[in-house]
Amino acid sequence: MTTVRVNASDTVSIETGALIVGVHRSPDGLRTAPGAEGLDQALNGRFADTLSAVGFTGRPEEIAKIPTFGALPAPIVVAVGLGEEPSGAYDPELLRRAAGAAARSLAGTADAASALPATTAQQVEAVAVGALLGAYAFTRYRTNGEKRPPLAELVVLSGAEGAQDALRHAATVAESVTLVRDLVNTPPSDLWPARFAEIAQETGGKAGLSVEVLDEVQLKNEGYGGIVGVGQGSANPPRLVRLAYSHPEARRTVAFVGKGITFDSGGLSLKPAASMDWMKSDMGGAGAVLGTLLAVARLGLPVNAVGYLCLAENMPSGSAQRPSDVLHTFSGKTVEVLDTDAEGRLVLIDGIARAAQDDPDLIVDVATLTGAQIVALGWRTAGVMANDDALREEVVEIAGAQGEGAWGMPLPEELRKGLDSPVADIANLQPERWGSMLAAGIFLREFVPDGVRWAHIDMAGPAFNKGEPHGYTPKGGTGAITRTLIGIAERYAANGEDRHTL
Ligand code: BES
Ligand code: MN
Ligand code: ZN
Repeated sequence: MTTVRVNASDTVSIETGALIVGVHRSPDGLRTAPGAEGLDQALNGRFADTLSAVGFTGRPEEIAKIPTFGALPAPIVVAVGLGEEPSGAYDPELLRRAAGAAARSLAGTADAASALPATTAQQVEAVAVGALLGAYAFTRYRTNGEKRPPLAELVVLSGAEGAQDALRHAATVAESVTLVRDLVNTPPSDLWPARFAEIAQETGGKAGLSVEVLDEVQLKNEGYGGIVGVGQGSANPPRLVRLAYSHPEARRTVAFVGKGITFDSGGLSLKPAASMDWMKSDMGGAGAVLGTLLAVARLGLPVNAVGYLCLAENMPSGSAQRPSDVLHTFSGKTVEVLDTDAEGRLVLIDGIARAAQDDPDLIVDVATLTGAQIVALGWRTAGVMANDDALREEVVEIAGAQGEGAWGMPLPEELRKGLDSPVADIANLQPERWGSMLAAGIFLREFVPDGVRWAHIDMAGPAFNKGEPHGYTPKGGTGAITRTLIGIAERYAANGEDRHTL
């Protein structure tokens, strides 16, 4: 990961490989944003005209690199568009994306300095998170080395009070998101359930989490029929990982449960080839939960947190579960498996039922659960469902504050009867396609004990970027919703002084 430092030195005199500056568009042309004062003068008043001459318009995330020909120590200035000048405070997401786009454009450059607006600690944090995440590259499988290695070092130019702490916080959060992206991008030949569990043990142990792993024998003996059923078709057996963090001042416990299908072939209800090649990303929920617990521990938040990683590989074989099999799940309820491709909900209900034994005040599950989420909300907006309206809106608000797209979705009662099974307590699938993101939420809700507040985040689209990079989001694994879960833990930790309750 890129290293970041903060420095209050003068923008134009800094020795660096590239100077990043924000540029606004206005009715009278381009204008450099706060933080880049003195630049235009150092370039003999020609900066705005030069930018216009190369066709730069100042729209958000637009990049232009302008050589300085010795006028400043930095050989190039990287102009990044910030749109119109805001009337009030900067939207932190505008700064994250700008810093991300700039950092992304600087692959191949060793070091840079950011003169983006950073007059408050919050802005310093936004610039740092955006740059750290924008500089991300997954190079582990390149045998010739990376031709354009990611930016190694960034100086954030700021004299803001609290800038050091903001930077440390940004680095901790970015480290978690980076780990999640790496896990999602790792091919399933190198990331099977037991390996994922080992990584959780290694990283969790170092961060001071207590980590327990149940193997396939324990899962079977202890009645985790959902995880066992999904995992039984694979040569790589399933695991359930429990991560726990506690703090002496904590008054409440939050439980996170993540879907961790290291590869989803669909099982015997096999997926078509075109839907399968990116199903290594089907463990993004478990990744986000691991990243969150690591961040909670590293930040030392005054909250109790537990995380469950529900890990299995969904494969077809002679030992695979069959459509029409009935599973005895950890909750005690039986489930008829009508479609083995609706496997995420089967592993999650065991994780939710196990999490309930920790007596949490709140359970949040996160999963790449349904293609219907993508149909309804597209690639960048997760669906949030809950058994409590205020909780759902608060999760959406926290996601929004992190710049993670999320939108509240209902759990319509009339969908429950579609899950009736003629043989078991419930079926894992409703007969029709319509509303299947919501039906999946209704299914999960059946396994949440009465009186426990629960939210469910379906991030099938946001977890993996099949398109081109944008802002601080690379192609491939995005680490989506990790920052939202960290935000939930932080909000929960702040309980008492905060007007919010979550
Ligand atoms: N992992 C998939 C959902 C998914 C689809 C994630 C596309 C990311 C991108 C999930 O296990 C699945 O197969 N869901 C099925 C459920 C259906 C059989 C009820 C789906 O959505 O088609
Ligand atoms: Mn599936
Ligand atoms: Zn799946």
